[in-house]
Amino acid sequence: MYPDRVVSGMRPTGPMHLGHYHGALQNWVRMQAQQPCLFFVADWHALTTHYDDPSIIERATWDMLVDWLAAGVDPSQATLFIQSRVPEHAELHLLLSMATPLGWLERVPTYKDQIDNLAGRDLSTYGFLGYPLLQAADVLIYRASEVPVGEDQLPHIEMMRELARRFNHLYGKEIGFEEKAAAAVKRLGGKRAKLYMEWRQAYQQDGNADALEQARAMLDDAQSLTNIDRERLFGYLEGSRKLILVEPQAKLSSASRLPGLDGRKMSKSYGNAIGLREDKDSVTKKVRTMPTDPARVRRSDPGDPARCPVFQLHEVYSDAATREWAVQGCTSAGIGCIECKQPVIDAIVAEQQPMHERAQPYLDDPTLVRAIVADGCDRARKLAQETMRDVREAVGLGYL
Ligand code: TRP
Ligand code: SF4
Repeated sequence: MYPDRVVSGMRPTGPMHLGHYHGALQNWVRMQAQQPCLFFVADWHALTTHYDDPSIIERATWDMLVDWLAAGVDPSQATLFIQSRVPEHAELHLLLSMATPLGWLERVPTYKDQIDNLAGRDLSTYGFLGYPLLQAADVLIYRASEVPVGEDQLPHIEMMRELARRFNHLYGKEIGFEEKAAAAVKRLGGKRAKLYMEWRQAYQQDGNADALEQARAMLDDAQSLTNIDRERLFGYLEGSRKLILVEPQAKLSSASRLPGLDGRKMSKSYGNAIGLREDKDSVTKKVRTMPTDPARVRRSDPGDPARCPVFQLHEVYSDAATREWAVQGCTSAGIGCIECKQPVIDAIVAEQQPMHERAQPYLDDPTLVRAIVADGCDRARKLAQETMRDVREAVGLGYL
């Protein structure tokens, strides 16, 4: 009933690294060619933890947008925007907050973890507790069907599904819905009206999913219906509720987690990251000084790739033949570590080359990025406003 829209966001927390590329951006680039995608900078979310340091957000926002463009996110395919430029997200957040039990927020596992992890900050704030609720608004406002996220975000997606369900349950009942739906069925015309009622019954009484599909296809084709009647009939098929918000699905990225320079997950806070647009010399130096199998002290000692963080990078960056060469050379002491690292360096540099090229025009002329975002904000805002009209009406604030 709603298009297969994809929505995802990232907090602007500084320059992106290759872990972000392999973990998320590659996935975005893949999805943008297949479905309508909205990608946004979650600047309000950045404020939930860094509210005491407003100096970094703006810079980090523009840098991150250049990183996205460098990675291949394409503004002619996807909509790129900044969360705070679409204030409807805040309105939906507020309206959702009215009926969100506090316990739902307190129970989100990331909530207590983060408070412990970021012990240096005072996070006993209302904004931080509401983090997943704002995230729910970000997605629900576009009636998105899919949300590409990392595994750590699954509890947030689960909560937004519960919120959508609860919202539809509380507010999805239009006054006089049954009568209006019955009138819409009549307007389908005799034969189709009869089929519709049969299919509805087959679905509701016997759970016949085919019948549901057929009925939906017919509604999609029924030219004579107004949009609002079509919506009603979609809702009437499944029960007697109107779907106002859509339950989205998490879409986990298929990419493996990129190891950092020390073999742990690549992360800025571990100091083991390679920047998305880091220059070649610096990449070369970082990989050359990476730790290797600690048991391989001298060049003549054989090593064990399973104990070596460099080999983990081979697993991401090298083809089977190169990996085989590394294993052979390492375990027989046939190659030295510097030699073994070279194909990894070359592969990383080759991966970054097109990113540097794509970033250059935006570095030369930052107004290009601003124009892309201005356009994206307009497009996103139109979609958000459509949903908000229905939401306001549903909660009794239609004033029409
Ligand atoms: N919480 C997400 C993260 O830390 C960022 C985010 C904010 C987000 N709003 C979103 C992700 C909506 C997906 C959809 O990664
Ligand atoms: Fe690691 Fe390669 Fe050195 Fe073996 S040869 S220890 S795999 S860097």
